[in-house]
Parts: sequence; C-alpha cells; structure tokens
Amino acid sequence: MTDITSVLSENRVFPPPAGFSERAHLKSRDDYDKLCAEERANPEAYWSRLATEELHWNQPFHQTLEWKPPHARWFIGGRCNLSYECLDANLDQHADKCALRFEGEPGDTRNLTYRELHAEVCRVANGLKALGVTAGDRVGIYLPMVPEAVIAMLACARIGAVHSVVFGGFSAQALQERMNDAGARVLLTADGGWRKGAVVPLLANVRAAMAAGIPSLKDVVVLRRVSPQPLELEKPEVDWHTWVKTQGPECPPFWVDSEHPLFILYTSGSTGKPKGVLHATAGFGLWTKLTSRWVFDLRDTDVYWCTADVGWVTGHSYVTYGPLMNGVTVVMYEGAPTTPAPDRFWDIIERHHVSIFYTAPTAIRSFMRLGEEHPMKHDLSSLRLLGSVGEPINPQAWIWYRDTIGRGRCPIVDTWWQTETGGILISPLPGLTPTKPGSATLPLPGIHPEVLDTHGKPVPPGAGGKLFITKPWPSMLRTIWGDDERFTQTYFSEQPGLYFTGDGARRDNDGYFWVVGRVDDVVNVAGHRLGTAEVESALVSHLNVAEAAVVGRPDELKGTALVAFVTLKQGVNASDALKAELAMHVSREIGAIARPDEIRFSQALPKTRSGKIMRRLLRDVADGKVTTQDTTTLEDLSVLAALRQEDE
Ligand code: PRX
Repeated sequence: MTDITSVLSENRVFPPPAGFSERAHLKSRDDYDKLCAEERANPEAYWSRLATEELHWNQPFHQTLEWKPPHARWFIGGRCNLSYECLDANLDQHADKCALRFEGEPGDTRNLTYRELHAEVCRVANGLKALGVTAGDRVGIYLPMVPEAVIAMLACARIGAVHSVVFGGFSAQALQERMNDAGARVLLTADGGWRKGAVVPLLANVRAAMAAGIPSLKDVVVLRRVSPQPLELEKPEVDWHTWVKTQGPECPPFWVDSEHPLFILYTSGSTGKPKGVLHATAGFGLWTKLTSRWVFDLRDTDVYWCTADVGWVTGHSYVTYGPLMNGVTVVMYEGAPTTPAPDRFWDIIERHHVSIFYTAPTAIRSFMRLGEEHPMKHDLSSLRLLGSVGEPINPQAWIWYRDTIGRGRCPIVDTWWQTETGGILISPLPGLTPTKPGSATLPLPGIHPEVLDTHGKPVPPGAGGKLFITKPWPSMLRTIWGDDERFTQTYFSEQPGLYFTGDGARRDNDGYFWVVGRVDDVVNVAGHRLGTAEVESALVSHLNVAEAAVVGRPDELKGTALVAFVTLKQGVNASDALKAELAMHVSREIGAIARPDEIRFSQALPKTRSGKIMRRLLRDVADGKVTTQDTTTLEDLSVLAALRQEDE
C-alpha cells in the first residue's frame, strides 16, 4: 500500500481581521509559540499549571500524568466536579446572567440564568438520588434539544453518575442497543420533540426499546414537551415535573476522582457495533474549558451558538461543558434549520444577537444551495467569529461562509477533532493564525499530531499520510466501554503507542494540516491513493454543484474506478453535457488522475444524522450490491431507495 496522494491545492491566505487580534485572549504568534515552548520544555509542568489554574480542586492532584500506552491517567489523586465548574463557579459573578437561551421549533422560548440553571440541575440531581442513582451508575439521556438535556447531563455530573446521551433522532433499536451496552439504570426522556413541524416520537421509541428488552433499566422519567394533555404513563415511567417538583434546589456536588468516568458516547464505527467512547472527568473538563476560550475567544459578553445536537460529542464539549465553564450565554435551538422558513438560523442569529456561530460544513453547503437571499435578509452584524466542525470544509463553502455569513469581517475557525479526542486538537486561533480555506491549520499548544507513512515515518511537506497524535492529551478517550481490547486494536495498533485518528492528512510548507477524510474512504486509482474529500471539493467548486460524494468501484481495468454522486443546485438541469463538463472540471482543478469515471446525479445523498455522507452505502450502490450494512444511523432511508431507482 502506498501513501496518500494529495491533489488539492488552495493558496489563499486570510490573516486575522484587523482589530480582532488586539482584543483576543491569544493575540500573536508569539503567544502561541510561548505556550508550545512551555509544553515542549516540560509537558507535565505545563499541564499541571493549566489544570491548577482552570479547575477547582476539592483535593489537589499529586501526579500530572501516568502514561502506560494505550492507557493514560491524568491529574491523579485530584477530586473535582464539572457541574460545580459549570454552575457554582459562575455564581459569584454571573448568577443573574443568562446561561441558556432556548428557542423551540414552534417559537417558544425560555431563558435560564446561571442561578436558575444551578437550581434546576440540583433538583434533577436530587431526583436521581431519590431513584437510588449513585456515583458510577449509568444514566441514559434521550431528549430533544431542550434545556432539560443540558440539565440532565449536568445533574449526572453533579452526583458522579455517568451519562450516555443517545441522539433523539435514533431509532428504538439503536437506543436499546446503546442502553444495554451501557447497562443504564435510569433513562431520562420526553414524550417527543419538534422537528420540521412534526413530532419525533421519543416515548414511543423508548417503549419499543423497553419491549425489546433493556434489563438494566429500572426507571424512565418522561418530560412533557409536545403533548397538550397530561401524559398517560406506564410502569416504570414517571412524569418529569412531578419527579422534580418535590426536590430541593440545592445538592452538594459529589467530588469525583479526576479519572472518574464522565460520560459514554456511542460513535458508529464503519462496520459493526457502535463503540462506547468513555471520557474521564478532569482531563475532559480542562481541555473543553481551555479550548472553548482559546478557539472561540470567548468573552463575557458573547452570545454563543453551536448548532450541534447534544446527541453528538460537539453537543457535550461545545454546547454544554466548554461554554458553560466559561460563563457565557449559550443559545440552544430545538428544531430544523429551515422550519418554518429557510432563514430560521439567520433569524435566530439576528434576534438573539449571536456573536459566535459554530456549525458543520454540511449545513453550510445546504445553505449555499438554498441561496444567499435568505441570510441577506438579516442583520448579522452581531457575529464576530464563525466555526466549522465535522468534516473537511471545501474551500468553496469556506469562502461562502466567510463572505455571506461573516460578511468578510469574521475569522473562521475550522476545528479538527473527534468524539474520541473529547475536544478540539487542530484549529486556527482566531487572533493569530492566518487561515487557509480548507485547512484546520495548526495543532493547539500541547497537542502533537504527525502525518506518518505506512512505516510510521513522517512524510515530507505536501505528501499525504495517516494522521496520528503522538503524545497523550488530557481529554483523550480512556477506553471503549466494556471492550478495552477493541480500544487498543482500533486506536493503538496501527503504530504501537501512537493514537491513530483514522484520518488521512497532509501538512504543507507552513506546517498546516489538511485533513483529506477517513482513510477508509481513500480510493486507490491507478496506484495513487486519493482522499475522496479532495475530489468532492473539486466537484463542488463547480457553479452548478451543491454536493458531491465520491467512492471507488472495483474495475477490471483500472483496479478502482471513481464514481461521483452529485447533487445539483436548485434549478440546474441534469444532462450528459453537464456530466462531461464536470469530469473536465475535475481534471482541470486537480488533474486527470482524479477525473471521475462515472457521474450520477441524485436528488440527495445518504447521510448520518450528524450530516456525514455514508460513503460505505454509496460504495454498495456504485457496485450494484444490496447493502448488508447497518443503516440505523441513516438520516433518511428513502434516499438510498431513490439512489437505487435512479440507477435503474
Ligand atoms: O474525519 C474527521 C472529521 O470527523 C471525524 C470525527 O467525527 P466525530 O467523531 O463524529 O466528531 C465530529 C465532531 C468533532 C474526524 O475523524 N472531521 C471533524 N472535524 C473536521 C474533520 N475533518 C476535517 N476537518 C475538520 N475540521
């Protein structure tokens, strides 16, 4: 197997906007270099200083790190509590400041100050205790994007229970599988949530999952969100409001060991059963707090909106823990981006004066497709920083985001990280990093990524390879719940002792990282291993293309043929002439090697609920096979059926 050939070349550079740097927490390359040098000189002293400064220690740690690859333990002997960190620690200065600014899809709103959030969290924590939940017990959370989702997470953290959030869009089967794997004792849920004007039937799914069997589950607490009538509940369900009503608004935090598990979050592997990624308290807390401040440059006056659902890691690290530890106002929106109209997001930004906006490239591309008239209707002048996460952002979308949403004023932070990394590892620092569209730029101070070839040797600048993190960091996953062997196999067997991200990347002459996507998605064309993200990026840079996914299909002659699935912008007609033009366009942009052998137009692409294109399903479609893959995390099954029909 040769290494990855990178074909994308993007030369535009955008320095931090004038005026941004002076006010930023980290202002200059010098600030960055100093932190990096401090860590290099003495990593343990660096991490120990940060942990001491950032977290409140009920009992100080006596050792910074124990690293027995692949197992790390951080801040050993210390005791802390992240609910305390998010709430109590803010009561001195921010008690009456809005912590959560919620907007439901139907338009209902609710504001919770830090004091109110503290009281709500304590009530729920007391409610959990009343159900017999103790430290280390697992609590499932299957809720819409409502304040109770954040409250539930923090209530668990308050008493040392381990939360496991399951995305509200997942099916009964996916819920059952995850709850059984986690051995959850209690499940916090709702009757439903609002999405695209319809009800997501959460309670019906819970009942189906219970009927299929979750033996560990003793109690189910149900929040009334959508029903106009009081709920008719069945054993062992209890009504949320009745449950908390009798609980007091004070609950002392349970000081947990630094390494005490904070949460399990399931992430679907490319095949097989989902992996329960386990995160530990102190390291996760430290890194999400710090990175929120460094990367989003959080200030007291910020109104911060990350559009991720709490069902994803982004909703843990950068909706809940990171921003609340920094005492900012967090906007939470329940529903779909285009309900009731395509400008809902821009309307929210304008009405709530959002200053920091963090979303995913897939969302940005769908907004591009809808047309710029929707954001243009709104005053977005409150925005001062934009973020992107979840997949490589193609330069076309990056520029659109900058111009149409940021109106050319806001720096963009393209943040690379994973469920497993707990927090952002590679990202621009907005006050000091010149950005290049499509690059996550540089590692944060203390993080050591490397692009290595198949023999574990660093590749020269410009060459592609596999992305590793070569030293432990505080918010790294600790293991896969119940399967430490799989943890070692998945992340530490490619190069023993080094964390393998599963991503392909290259580093340019300035040391910037360019992630080309998952190595599973790399295709071998005539001896070149191409990251499909680059070919996709070339396709979407064509005026008529909204989205593209590229996969390999076995081909007798070439070994692998490139098949591109292309969604066109609204109003563009599909034609053979356009296919030929697109193939030419790719040749021109990145070279004949990447020219697709086949282009298929389709109305939509199969995506996970978090917006990632499911290329493994497309590989089956391209190859004419009936899929045997797990489709439970697919956003919309009809997309797959339509793709097959388009094929016929
Ligand atoms: O392939 C990378 C891509 O998303 C993967 C992690 O996905 P998940 O665990 O669902 O977490 C998403 C939220 C952090 C990575 O292995 N990815 C994420 N962010 C970027 C990215 N690829 C390129 N650039 C990014 N900024």
